[in-house]
Amino acid sequence: MISHTKNFSFVFCSAFLVLLVSAGFLSQDLYLHGYFSASIKLPADYTAGVVVAFYMSNGDMFEKNHDEIDFEFLGNIRGKNWRIQTNIYGNGSTSTGREERYGLWFDPSEDFHQYSILWTQNVIVFYVDNVPIREIKRTEAMGGDFPSKPMSLYATIWDGSSWATNGGKYRVNYKYAPYIAEFSDFILHGCAVDPIELSKCDTLPKLPTMSSQQRMKMTAFRNKHMQYSYCYDRARYKVPPSECTIEPKEAERLRGFDPVTFGGTRRPHKRHRRVRLEASSV
Ligand SMILES: *[C@@H]1O[C@H](CO)[C@@H](O)[C@H](O)[C@H]1NC(C)=O
Repeated sequence: MISHTKNFSFVFCSAFLVLLVSAGFLSQDLYLHGYFSASIKLPADYTAGVVVAFYMSNGDMFEKNHDEIDFEFLGNIRGKNWRIQTNIYGNGSTSTGREERYGLWFDPSEDFHQYSILWTQNVIVFYVDNVPIREIKRTEAMGGDFPSKPMSLYATIWDGSSWATNGGKYRVNYKYAPYIAEFSDFILHGCAVDPIELSKCDTLPKLPTMSSQQRMKMTAFRNKHMQYSYCYDRARYKVPPSECTIEPKEAERLRGFDPVTFGGTRRPHKRHRRVRLEASSV
């Protein structure tokens, strides 16, 4: 059984006006399933366009059909907090994004907080400070879209100017560099695979399971802090992907948050334009 805790801390920074910040941590080992965690402190102040990511991937080995499990922290303009995004890809399913975005109940740039990924054969759970925030169960219909090949763990900080903050409206401002993301207390309790014979892994350590109390916490978190879910994005998926369970109450809450993306009502000016067009075509 390979199960070790790395206890160190390091800092990435772009000291100058560099256009692309790209630095990172990579686990030497590949793992098939396990529990992976890090304590992370995000850059403070103006962080628009800055993306900090803590994720698993095998993109280096499988260019066309890679798997990925992502925590992405999306920077924000001053006075507004970071948001986190979670996502998965399986076997190269990059045309089907399964993103969710959330606000947090604390300022993640003020202190270290623990972010964790549980990945088993049938379930993926994302945790923030041991509160589960998302659970993805493998369904038959998902097929290869559920990550199933060995992956390594990564931590990076990069320039996401084109998309990260309000869809790219606010870009990275290097006047505020260096942007420093601090990572510590890495936990890699995984089933390490033989890099030659990828199908084999050592014994899987005992992994956490969700208690009913934790499940209640997850529901409470999602009801309060989830701001985006691909399942409810009608602009993107006319028919939600098969694993989605649509809850009318949740749909209503998200529509209140963002009526255009979540599809309930049109923006008034659009309605006006349509009315005018209809009138002129008579
Ligand atoms: C994964 O993708 C490969 C290549 O595209 C394909 O041959 C294989 O059947 C897929 N596996 C699953 C489980 O969908």
